[in-house]
Amino acid sequence: MKEADNGATAPQEVVYGLLSKDIVPNLERRPDFLRPLTYEHFDVDPVNRDVNQRLLLQMVSPADKDGLILDVGCANGANSQMLVEAYTQQGIPVHWAGIDLDQAAIDTARQKVTETHLVDVNFMKGDVTNLHIIGNGKARKIFFTGIYHELQGKDEEGKPLKAKALEELLRVLEPGGELILVSAFTRESFNVRQNKEGEQVFDRGEFMRVARIRSAAMQKLNRQGDKNKTNFEVLTNDQVIENLLAAGFEVDPHVVMERANLTMESHRAIAEDKMYIKGAFQDMQDAEKVDMYSKREAYQQALDDAEAEHEGIIAKLLAKDPQAEMPELTYPRNISLFRARKPLTPLTAAESVPLAA
Ligand SMILES: C[S@@+](CC[C@H](N)C(=O)[O-])C[C@H]1O[C@@H](n2cnc3c(N)ncnc32)[C@H](O)[C@@H]1O
Repeated sequence: MKEADNGATAPQEVVYGLLSKDIVPNLERRPDFLRPLTYEHFDVDPVNRDVNQRLLLQMVSPADKDGLILDVGCANGANSQMLVEAYTQQGIPVHWAGIDLDQAAIDTARQKVTETHLVDVNFMKGDVTNLHIIGNGKARKIFFTGIYHELQGKDEEGKPLKAKALEELLRVLEPGGELILVSAFTRESFNVRQNKEGEQVFDRGEFMRVARIRSAAMQKLNRQGDKNKTNFEVLTNDQVIENLLAAGFEVDPHVVMERANLTMESHRAIAEDKMYIKGAFQDMQDAEKVDMYSKREAYQQALDDAEAEHEGIIAKLLAKDPQAEMPELTYPRNISLFRARKPLTPLTAAESVPLAA
């Protein structure tokens, strides 16, 4: 099925959603299962807003004065709105441009983000792997949040999309201009612990809790994971730094990390986003034959089951000890912020070295 690429409910998606009742016979649908898939729910989620505030507001700097600031992968404009307000409150005039591949998101952002007397605002459709809409060396600072992990695979010439994007971001930055890359999908997003030998190892527990929801959702669609397909490639923070260096950036080796305790509501809000749903089912058998609405419905029902299971455990614990403090069901995530800079004089990849901490 061809997916609507503008975030709107394409007629073929609706028809496919209805027809796929035959393909996915066991899936019971809610009456509103055809509501559009949109990033809006997560955009305004309080946990997401809180972590974005903690990470991004500290990046607003007087050195940005009169520069062009880009929000690449701006979605519905929630971060743009927060940052435009911050620049205005701090008396720093800048020019603001939000860019996203999704026309529906751009339309929402245009309505949401208001210009101020210090900040003019533009939103445009654009692809980070080909930013021809922005000239060389024009941007002072680029916010690139929650999008790097979505760049999976290679272009027709075999070039990884991640490398293409970094190349473009470097091209559009002024010499000395800064890239702020935020990712919630690195290996370190799931907890790191020390093993018996004292080595830092990735704790699979948090990862597995999310993986369980994915496989439960696939079962609801009468399907399993396909071992011949790959799911998202998840990089370590060091690999992200290596990629930035290889693209020609200078990189601050100190990665800022903030923890987001995603609640059940946050998890449900993420699962309203079509990019998330696409990624969550990417490695499912016949993934392309199942429409986005059914995938979302299955995912939300898997979350219902996880919630019911948790409530069952709580009920048993309370029966034993009515005074006991009960844990909330959360999906914690570490969010990493990388700071990189375009060198004042271009470096070859071989010359490129990390900035001193
Ligand atoms: C998960 S949202 C992140 C939104 C926001 N930046 C934040 O941090 O909350 C990712 C956004 O990246 C956009 N996106 C994905 N691939 C893109 C590309 N190649 N060029 C531009 N935008 C892209 C998606 O349309 C989506 O709006």
